[in-house]
Amino acid sequence: MTYQNLLLEMHGKVALITLNRPQALNALSPELTAELSALLDALEADDSVAAVVITGSEKAFAAGADIKAMKDWSYMDVYKSDFITASWERLTTFRKPSIAAVAGYALGGGCELAMMCDFIIAADTAKFGQPEITIGTIPGAGGTQRLTRFIGKSKAMDMVLTGRMMDAQEAERCGLVSRLVPADRLIEEALAAAEKISQMSAPIAMMAKDAVNRAFETTLAEGIHFERRLFHSTFATEDQKEGMAAFVEKRKPSFRNR
Ligand code: CAA
Repeated sequence: MTYQNLLLEMHGKVALITLNRPQALNALSPELTAELSALLDALEADDSVAAVVITGSEKAFAAGADIKAMKDWSYMDVYKSDFITASWERLTTFRKPSIAAVAGYALGGGCELAMMCDFIIAADTAKFGQPEITIGTIPGAGGTQRLTRFIGKSKAMDMVLTGRMMDAQEAERCGLVSRLVPADRLIEEALAAAEKISQMSAPIAMMAKDAVNRAFETTLAEGIHFERRLFHSTFATEDQKEGMAAFVEKRKPSFRNR
């Protein structure tokens, strides 16, 4: 399949997806999100892919949903198509590890898309924001919910009500991003993190991700119960036997994804 709005490069077992609408600061048009969803389907089905990095340009990860596309849509248009959920949320059901590598603007849907990834590595040039209120709407792809869980109510309210941008340092301080790196090392660092993950057992990485994500969906007691059962189930895998044997034998494990 060819993509008009995305670039795909393989780096070993890591797929690097670049959002590629530079003329619109990677605004997330319906075409772009449909392509992203289809590409994630293909990458999920491909056993040679262990992890995904999603990035944009130096100037913008993505400046939000495409305002030019949206501006004349009616209530019925957005309600009947359930605008945003279908293609955008594919990332939230993607079972392999995903990293957002953010430089420049990650605004509105761009910030929301980054938050749908497992974690965010930010360049020192990154700017995050939910400016929807400044154009007469509110975040619609999880901004009011995920941002609040990541950075707390007070800061989330500040961002969502004033529409202000947060720089990369503030984003790192408040836990929105996991690492802050110099802009010229962003892709290298994100690929290195993904490469490190791709050396692990793929099914165990899926379980780890599943367990962390559960923390956002349930009570502490239920989450710990879920974690315990998944932890137990790792003992049914060949990779747990290999990982622990390799430790005891002082050698590198050779995981077989089984
Ligand atoms: N949708 C469509 N086009 C966009 C866009 C967007 N979200 N953001 C930028 N563009 C376009 C601009 O219209 C411009 O195109 P033209 O050259 O054809 O005029 C081009 O990208 C470059 O943008 P600017 O000239 O504005 O660049 P700048 O450097 O002066 O400003 C910016 C950069 C501050 C990011 C500014 O572009 C901006 O504020 N963008 C909109 C941000 C925004 O409001 N995002 C939220 C969208 S709503 C949403 O996302 C809903 C949701 O929750 C899913």
